[in-house]
Amino acid sequence: MNAPISPASPASPADTLRAALAGLLDGLPPKQATQAVDRLIANYRGRTPTDAPILRDRADVAAYAAYRMPATFEAVRAALDALADAAPEGWAPGSHVDVGGGTGAATWAVASTWAGERPVTVLDWAEPALALGRELAGSEPRLKAARWQRSRIGASLAIESTDLVTVSYVLGELTEADRASVVEAAAEAATQAVVIIEPGTPDGYTRIMAARERLIAAGYRIAAPCPHSAACPIEPGTDWCHFSARVSRSSLHRKVKGGSLAYEDEKFSYVAAVRFDPAPPPSRVVRRPQIRKGQVLLDLCGAEEELRRETVTKRHGPLYRAARDADWGDAWPPQSAR
Ligand SMILES: C[S@@+](CC[C@H](N)C(=O)[O-])C[C@H]1O[C@@H](n2cnc3c(N)ncnc32)[C@H](O)[C@@H]1O
Repeated sequence: MNAPISPASPASPADTLRAALAGLLDGLPPKQATQAVDRLIANYRGRTPTDAPILRDRADVAAYAAYRMPATFEAVRAALDALADAAPEGWAPGSHVDVGGGTGAATWAVASTWAGERPVTVLDWAEPALALGRELAGSEPRLKAARWQRSRIGASLAIESTDLVTVSYVLGELTEADRASVVEAAAEAATQAVVIIEPGTPDGYTRIMAARERLIAAGYRIAAPCPHSAACPIEPGTDWCHFSARVSRSSLHRKVKGGSLAYEDEKFSYVAAVRFDPAPPPSRVVRRPQIRKGQVLLDLCGAEEELRRETVTKRHGPLYRAARDADWGDAWPPQSAR
């Protein structure tokens, strides 16, 4: 008897994005792609807000997408995972606006976190980024209908009402005043949740902290990464809260950065704030766990608004096994031990 032929399972948004990005550089001479990446890196190192888009043409945008989008996608996905864990069972955003969305990394992260389709709008001032974002989204059925709209972040920014607003790797490109405007506009527009992601640097963390305060002042509660909505226990200037997402390196990555590592770790800071009652975990692992002989050292941020180190030893049985599996950014203790 012939074995039944099972239909091929649809590719995940992450796989579809990887394939779409790989195809992107096909028509671009490697020298041009490398030059565009070099210019982007120089611009992003400068970190000064500009009054014109950095992503000027298709070569810039293709380089951005191939070089940075896999990393921003993974960082947003990690932040959304943490939000999903703290949200009521079965919650999913019914609509999404991505502000400063560029080529749409956050729209792919939303599609990869929650099943189903939803209206999606991407706002950005760089037309070439929107055009390429639209082109990439054409290969993902759930993003095909997304709207890509030219919009400048500033005092007059208006965001349509939506369940979820994301602002990913944007605040660092804005003036102080525009940063405040975009967070306030996001807080006003979102009916359920606002998620803001920045690079995992001391400056990125500082911008996240300022946004966090604004969101709390606007009536939001923190769903992740903090286990509470009170003040951050980190003394300013002594440390910064950030996390790490593993990213597969593309061939362009390897070409530009050299070396043969198949992956790299993207460091990011984030805040997920919600209008509903969140259920954040009792604690979160805020550094890479240190595994020693017979024990695991966990640095935790707890609901009591304090940072503490917990040593989990073999004597703790199943908890020790869970600690050995625990990763930076995870909730602690695991659901089974609460
Ligand atoms: C580093 S990219 C991040 C893109 C995307 N959100 C991601 O996570 O990959 C920053 C984006 O912000 C956009 N941007 C910067 N300043 C802006 C402004 N004043 N108005 C609208 N978009 C802006 C840029 O065009 C760019 O697409």
